[in-house]
Amino acid sequence: MWTKESLRQLVEEKLRGYLFIVVSNREPYIHTFSGREIQCQVPASGLTVALDPVMQCCGGTWIAHGSGNADADVVDKKNKVMVPPQAPQYALRRIWLSKEDEDGYYYRFSNEALWPLCHIAYTAPFFEESAWNTYRKVNQLFADNVLDEVGDREAFVFVQDYHLALLPRMIKEGNASIKVAQFWHIPWPNPEAFRVCPWQEEILDGLLGNDLLGFHILYHCHNFLDTVDKTIEAKSDRERYEVTRGAKKTVVRSFPISVDFETISREAQSEKVAAEIDRLKGELGISDELIGLGLDRFDYTKGIPNRLRAIDQFFVKYPEWKGKVVFVQAGVPSRVHITAYKRINEEIESLVEEVNWKHAARYWKPVIFIDEHLSPLSLMALRRMAHFAVVSALHDGMNLVAKEFVASRFDEDGVLVLSPFTGASRELTDAVMVNPYATDHFAEAIRKAVEMPKEERQRRMRKMREVVSNNNIFKWAADIISELVKLDIGG
Ligand code: F6P
Repeated sequence: MWTKESLRQLVEEKLRGYLFIVVSNREPYIHTFSGREIQCQVPASGLTVALDPVMQCCGGTWIAHGSGNADADVVDKKNKVMVPPQAPQYALRRIWLSKEDEDGYYYRFSNEALWPLCHIAYTAPFFEESAWNTYRKVNQLFADNVLDEVGDREAFVFVQDYHLALLPRMIKEGNASIKVAQFWHIPWPNPEAFRVCPWQEEILDGLLGNDLLGFHILYHCHNFLDTVDKTIEAKSDRERYEVTRGAKKTVVRSFPISVDFETISREAQSEKVAAEIDRLKGELGISDELIGLGLDRFDYTKGIPNRLRAIDQFFVKYPEWKGKVVFVQAGVPSRVHITAYKRINEEIESLVEEVNWKHAARYWKPVIFIDEHLSPLSLMALRRMAHFAVVSALHDGMNLVAKEFVASRFDEDGVLVLSPFTGASRELTDAVMVNPYATDHFAEAIRKAVEMPKEERQRRMRKMREVVSNNNIFKWAADIISELVKLDIGG
């Protein structure tokens, strides 16, 4: 089993002498002002949850957009700050973007074009030339920062996600000796869906600047190879999972991302969490009701309205559970400048209101809605309190909320209700699987979770914990590094 220590040894052995750089849009620590005080927050992001422990273990530099309003106040001349703040292990180098650049690159191109393009969730992508131009400009800014950070050293640059599709080619053009890998954290769609993108060739060309390109599951690798075949001049090899464009070869592989199972499982057992459970129960007015839990970044891909409709249906069909089950839906609004996100926030709020109005009796109401940033301690307490958790994404690359829930349940209890349209469903086969579009089936799945005997809950949770514990985040990173080594990189 991979641990922090064995990953550290692998990095020391195989990447000796190489500078290790991670590049992403989202930064792992955000400094913000609270009044005049500076505080440091951890964002609601699967990507940073997964990569922070890897960086803490390997060291190196993480380059990302500095999005906090106090970020500039804590960096040195090179725009760097050591993190995590309590026990610094690696450097975070921040890139500054103007409001206009953030709007074009992050909101309009990454999240109004690429995000809906790659997630088949029935929200149409929106393409604008000016947004595309800004996306290119900001990718070049990231490339300039990477090239400056590397200088004339040997380096392995690990690029993250869809915000930076053009970056690998730009890095290679600036310095061909840098080894570049990229992990695409969201699904890759089929060619029919992808072909509506006016800049599909440029995006594929950018990605084929990578030496190694990773997706969560094999299905996304196949979709990517199909898209390459149908879109640009390149040779794809289906046996080796490789693409050759000009003289450049890119290896395409699946690496299912995960979480730091051991740390989460250990922290879940602390007395602080037990105290936080009591505090939260008091605050939320919960006594011995069975608790269902939804924890999401509010996004139209997460199937939150589908979930609320299923909860409604559950209480319609099984009124005997009224007053005995309560569903806590917590999360944070995100990307709120985008119309589709404004709409989903409104839809969620109005559905919560409707379901509560319909079923509430005396002091009991079926849904407790929390739409504010919760501390890691409160999130852990919620996962521990839950009798069942629901992950109902309409399409999701992996979904780490599911894996975090499993990792938190050291008591080997708790049911996971999971959408088959998540990457996580390929591994967590002992979850109660349900199609979030099928409201009646979904209501039945909730009933099953509520009524499942303890023995069955434990049997399923034990198996899921074994899977997440074996396929932990250190294995994910080790598999990627080992693949690079096979490509004759490092070591
Ligand atoms: O799924 C891709 C991803 O980058 C996740 O890592 C994360 O959960 C989410 O998107 C974060 O979005 P943002 O950085 O836009 O807040």
